[in-house]
Amino acid sequence: MIVISVFNFKGGTGKSSTTLNLEAYLASPKRQTLLIDLDGQRTLSFGLGMDGQQPTTLDWLTSKEAIAPKQTQVKHLCLIPGDIGMFRLKAEDNLFIPALSRLRGFDVVLMDCPPGLSVVSVQAILNSDRILIPTMNEPASLKGLSEAVELIRGERANIPIDVVRTRYKPRLVLTKEADDLLIEAAVELGYRLLHTTIPDNIAVAESIAAQQPILTYAPKSSGARAYQSLAKECTKYWGTK
Ligand SMILES: Nc1ncnc2c1ncn2[C@@H]1O[C@H](COP(=O)(O)OP(=O)(O)O)[C@@H](O)[C@H]1O
Ligand SMILES: [Mg+2]
Repeated sequence: MIVISVFNFKGGTGKSSTTLNLEAYLASPKRQTLLIDLDGQRTLSFGLGMDGQQPTTLDWLTSKEAIAPKQTQVKHLCLIPGDIGMFRLKAEDNLFIPALSRLRGFDVVLMDCPPGLSVVSVQAILNSDRILIPTMNEPASLKGLSEAVELIRGERANIPIDVVRTRYKPRLVLTKEADDLLIEAAVELGYRLLHTTIPDNIAVAESIAAQQPILTYAPKSSGARAYQSLAKECTKYWGTK
């Protein structure tokens, strides 16, 4: 089982959309996948039409017994829905070690972190095998990105970090400038800038509203094709089946 935290300081960088759509494309008979919604805002759970269902992430983290993740509308894709009460988690105990060890039968686990730096994000990062950082391609977003990478490196010096560009607008001069900065910073900060970019595509936003992954909502859209290539690229680097 490989555990990946999807994290960025900044809100609105496509964390929840990427967690959901990437994992939907990774799900297969050979690869059982699990989404864990760590954000009290629960965009990910909403995007699958499963907001409000139990047991929630808070139950998973605090219960002494194993809980059963929910089967989603996509085969081989399960979810532990988010919980508005996540703020109640205290920093003292590491809840992720026992909770993760109680999960059975999953190959790829993606954890959707809230923005900012909460107890839950720090613990998620400390207990992941890899980190995926979705970032928007604007010079202003890149500050948040370098801060996020430095912070992660402070806790986990050698953890592999992948960066994916979301809401990508290839025709803008600003995009080219941000690309150059991202390529430069990759060497300095030690992350892998993924080749696949996720275009700014209304179907991605619509699919969340329609409570479906883009895989079923608009499989021919540019967003869907991008998430499919992202899944291919990640499989190559993540060493999953
Ligand atoms: N590739 C995209 N194209 C267009 N809109 C997008 C795309 N990715 C995300 N969005 C929209 O941007 C907003 C923030 O996305 P979300 O995934 O919730 O970000 P985060 O989890 O980082 O806060 C949402 O309204 C979402 O629908
Ligand atoms: Mg989110």
